[in-house]
Amino acid sequence: MSQPKAPLRHFLQFKDFSRAEHEHVFARTRAIKDKFKRYERYWPLEDRTLAMIFEKPSTRTRMSFESGMHQLGGAAIYLYTRDSQLGRGEPVEDAAQVISRMCDIIMVRTFEQDIIERFARKSRVPVINGLTDEYHPCQILADVYTYIEQRGAIRGRTVAWIGDSNNVCNTWLQAAAIFDFKLHISTPPGYEVEPERMNRNAETFADPMAAARGAHLVTTDVWTSMGFEAENEERRKAFHDWQVDAEMMKAAAKDALFMHCLPAHRGEEVAAEVIDGPQSVVWEEAENRLHTQKALLEFLLLGKVSGS
Ligand code: CP
Ligand code: NVA
Repeated sequence: MSQPKAPLRHFLQFKDFSRAEHEHVFARTRAIKDKFKRYERYWPLEDRTLAMIFEKPSTRTRMSFESGMHQLGGAAIYLYTRDSQLGRGEPVEDAAQVISRMCDIIMVRTFEQDIIERFARKSRVPVINGLTDEYHPCQILADVYTYIEQRGAIRGRTVAWIGDSNNVCNTWLQAAAIFDFKLHISTPPGYEVEPERMNRNAETFADPMAAARGAHLVTTDVWTSMGFEAENEERRKAFHDWQVDAEMMKAAAKDALFMHCLPAHRGEEVAAEVIDGPQSVVWEEAENRLHTQKALLEFLLLGKVSGS
């Protein structure tokens, strides 16, 4: 094959890429999105195959990676652990060695971060984190891109995270350090961010209204993440006052945006009038999963492609 080949890199956490690399991915996202909107064929990944391994359900991540790979001229294979030997106890290391000999790039959605790290160590091809209990880097790639697309530079801005200190929150923490914006975090007592994840761009607030005050972007996520369903009732009580509602959006900056990685529960972490209201960009955010991940696939497989 005469196509260029990038050195082996993985995207397991947001901080695996430098700011310059993220900016490159964003520049490519713009170019690739423009081509898509013009119905212009762009097939740099012809003959390349993406394997997608899911240990948890998905709508957006599967759709965006599978459509994205097709739109780039390649193919995508969907594996759910329940239907594969991974679900019957085949070691992660063995699966990584076999699967990575049969495809060009792999996306994994799993539980502990350690699982994907072990997988990546044995993989001959790039591995992308499609969500773990600890991180969701592809989501924040789309979220930061969406903020920049809607409002310009994110550096020096304030993002308010209201709710659970989960995988999405942990990834916002890494993004704040890389892009140098402020992150206000408010979680209920007992659900605080682990102290070692905090950095100088982040500040915690006991009162969610105080966290939202003056923010340029207010964002939240479900109260109970996948894998934690047994805690549902307990969490529903603990998170009661951590709903993003119209009053909270009023405390934010006048032109503040609202984002949610989705799926959302109206009446729990977000009021219907906010998610369905004029400040919400959740559909643009979801669509940008497609465009940012196409740029990510291009970067991991072909390196720094230039041109429009
Ligand atoms: N936001 C997100 O990752 O959605 P899915 O769980 O539907 O993939
Ligand atoms: N924090 C959520 C995100 C879903 C996209 C979860 O892990 O279930």
